[in-house]
Amino acid sequence: MGIEIIGIGSYLPEKILTNIDLEKLVETSDEWITTRTGIKERRIASESEATSDLAIKAAERAISNAKISPEEIDAIIVATITPDMAFPSTACFVQKGLKAVNSAAFDISAACSGFIYGLTIGKDLIKSGTFNTVLVIGGETLSKITDWHDRNTCVLLGDAAGAVILRKTNSSSDILSSYLGANGNYSDLLLMPGGGSRNPTTHKTVDEQLHYLKMEGNKLFKIAVKAMADSAQKAIALAGITCNDVNLIIPHQANIRIVEAVAKLLNVSMDKVFLNIHKYGNTSAATTPVALEEAIREGKVKKGDIVTLVAFGGGLTWGAVVIRL
Ligand code: UT7
Repeated sequence: MGIEIIGIGSYLPEKILTNIDLEKLVETSDEWITTRTGIKERRIASESEATSDLAIKAAERAISNAKISPEEIDAIIVATITPDMAFPSTACFVQKGLKAVNSAAFDISAACSGFIYGLTIGKDLIKSGTFNTVLVIGGETLSKITDWHDRNTCVLLGDAAGAVILRKTNSSSDILSSYLGANGNYSDLLLMPGGGSRNPTTHKTVDEQLHYLKMEGNKLFKIAVKAMADSAQKAIALAGITCNDVNLIIPHQANIRIVEAVAKLLNVSMDKVFLNIHKYGNTSAATTPVALEEAIREGKVKKGDIVTLVAFGGGLTWGAVVIRL
């Protein structure tokens, strides 16, 4: 028995924020952002749009693509670090929006690696016989936790959601392998310090700007390259194949220079690596499902092809999955 992605969908908010727009907000330039990151523009959710609103739209598209009804969904997993609220889970808001009345619902927090973690959990929940049909979503509204005065972070981030529906199959489609890792010793390199039980929200935490995403980009860069290359290699080996057998690598899109360095370590040409960072920037957990949807829609991969999703993010967390579509 294999596990098949029977439907996929994504949603990008309408508003486009370009590098030129950012030049008016902070001391930066289109030239710096383009050459140092590969990003040209990103999408920004409207004031009234929360993460569940993006997630619901992506999920509706995945449901329609899968040609199933919402009542057939047994579990909803939302990977996000920008939940609508601390609780209830964003997955419960998604369940309500979809009228997926027969599903369990929960969130997972693994930052940019969240979708890879979610896909692994979803696959194993089906393989163990607990559920038949699982909806996995990566959704973020990073713009809501971005300090728009901090040029070190605000030029990098964007909002998006991507969703897949998983189900058992007798076809050759399968999630062939999964490798997950983490190192909490590096938790201070990428975090939002305020609002949780460590620093409950007070006037002081707001004054100290603890409710924004903080990042030590330079230190993360080096760890990201190694962790992503290592994760992809391990997942590919676990699948019993080699890099040559992989039709397309879909990496987390935090920085084009990270992606290029990972491709070099894996010894694969950039033709085999999917890129959409120029359009969306880093959308954390939404990045890999949005990219997979786009790669399929654009015909870059087709049924039977092998793709490797690989990501790295706050936690620190990392991971990769190998999928035969
Ligand atoms: O999602 C997963 C986790 N995130 C990541 O993996 C991000 C990994 N890190 C990165 O992508 C890169 O480190 C950044 C894009 C964040 C920064 O690029 P960098 O090449 O590492 O730049 P830097 O931090 O070493 O800064 C170089 C210079 C500095 O100026 P000085 O000190 O050399 O005068 C910065 O102040 O660039 C300056 N700088 C900027 N200049 C214009 C930093 N941000 C900007 C900016 N516009 N937006």
